[in-house]
Amino acid sequence: MELKNAKHLRGTVSVPGDKSISHRAIMFGAISKGMTEVTNFLQGADCLSTISCFQKMGISIENRKDRVIVHGKGLHGLSAPKEILDTGNSGTTTRLISGILAGQSFSSSLTGDHSIQKRPMKRILTPLSAMGADVSSVRGNDCAPLQFHPSSLHGMTYTSPVSSAQVKSCILLAGLYADDTTSVIEPVLSRNHTELMLSAFGADIQSQNTTVSIHPNPNLQGQKVEVPGDISSAAYFIAAGLLAKDAEILIQNVGINPTRDGILKAAHAMGGNIQKQNERIVSGEPVCDLLVTSSALFGTDIGGELIPTLIDEIPMIAVMAAFADGTTRITDAAELKVKESNRILTVAENLRRMGADVTPTEDGMIIKGNPCALHKADFDSYLDHRIAMAFAVAALSLDAPCCMQDAECVNISYPKFYEDLYGLIRDE
Ligand code: S3P
Repeated sequence: MELKNAKHLRGTVSVPGDKSISHRAIMFGAISKGMTEVTNFLQGADCLSTISCFQKMGISIENRKDRVIVHGKGLHGLSAPKEILDTGNSGTTTRLISGILAGQSFSSSLTGDHSIQKRPMKRILTPLSAMGADVSSVRGNDCAPLQFHPSSLHGMTYTSPVSSAQVKSCILLAGLYADDTTSVIEPVLSRNHTELMLSAFGADIQSQNTTVSIHPNPNLQGQKVEVPGDISSAAYFIAAGLLAKDAEILIQNVGINPTRDGILKAAHAMGGNIQKQNERIVSGEPVCDLLVTSSALFGTDIGGELIPTLIDEIPMIAVMAAFADGTTRITDAAELKVKESNRILTVAENLRRMGADVTPTEDGMIIKGNPCALHKADFDSYLDHRIAMAFAVAALSLDAPCCMQDAECVNISYPKFYEDLYGLIRDE
């Protein structure tokens, strides 16, 4: 696909619903009693994989596009799937559903696409097995396909070596089916959408600092969930607005949960001009509109507790760093290696193709900003939606049209991405 250049960006954009929250609304709706109505659901391939997995377990889910209705059957209402559950490209579906499958009285198996079959599942297999789950990696390589058989689960306290909301949520969901309280302790707090939403559905769940505890066997009741716009999708418009010579972009309805808003902190640290407007609470999550204008960016250090709050935005931040004045050091982000692609390598490779000075490290990268050295390039998405979107934004600020291999993988989280981005281009 040919990627455009643009100096002038103006207008308003509403990014699609939050991916993490959309997945959870379907899952929690399925194991609650009664109807759950989800508005602004993300109609991306990952969240559609979640819908299809629960449909295969006997849950009626009506996808009317503007809203999704889940007819939940309660904690013990799922039925044995007749075929293997296919989670597609979705790590969130794979890891969260595993917590639910571990607690069922039927056997099941799940798998996903080529990328999912290479992503590490030991991080959930270890705690699930410690709870007494009968779960195994079919090929014995700690990756999907995974096989589940019925067993009784015990409550436990698990100290997780990684700050991962997927791991935390998997254990908490298994904890719903355990015989006692289950607690998870994380090194640094990861996104807390599971805690907020499960509590709204009626779970008995408490958080204190980096520890969260859940009591088993709650009476979960279906809810109305209005999904806020995804800050991870907003990140591309934030960067596009900051980097363009002349831009003013209003991004409406963006979720700004403090466990997700690291992109705003990083952009401010780099000198980005972003104003929050109309702050409000939607379905228990903080939301606002963001007004972004062109800014001269400078390098910064990004690491430590900030990392889980912006982990999916690092490809975009790395691109911003290449256009900034000075050096940006990204540390403590080894998790980038086990995302949809190895994002330390795929970001560094694409940055090099456009002439940037980047040094990949064990847990991040060092980027020496030098906008004058940057030039048009042929990019590869490596079939990773966030790589495709980050470098489509980079291309806007390069000197001539660029190309992207496998650009259509944006369908995973943002099917209308190119339409929305290019809709902001003005002649002057
Ligand atoms: C997600 C958690 C993060 C994130 C992913 C979505 C979630 O993964 O990268 O895109 O919805 O819980 P990890 O939990 O592996 O960090």
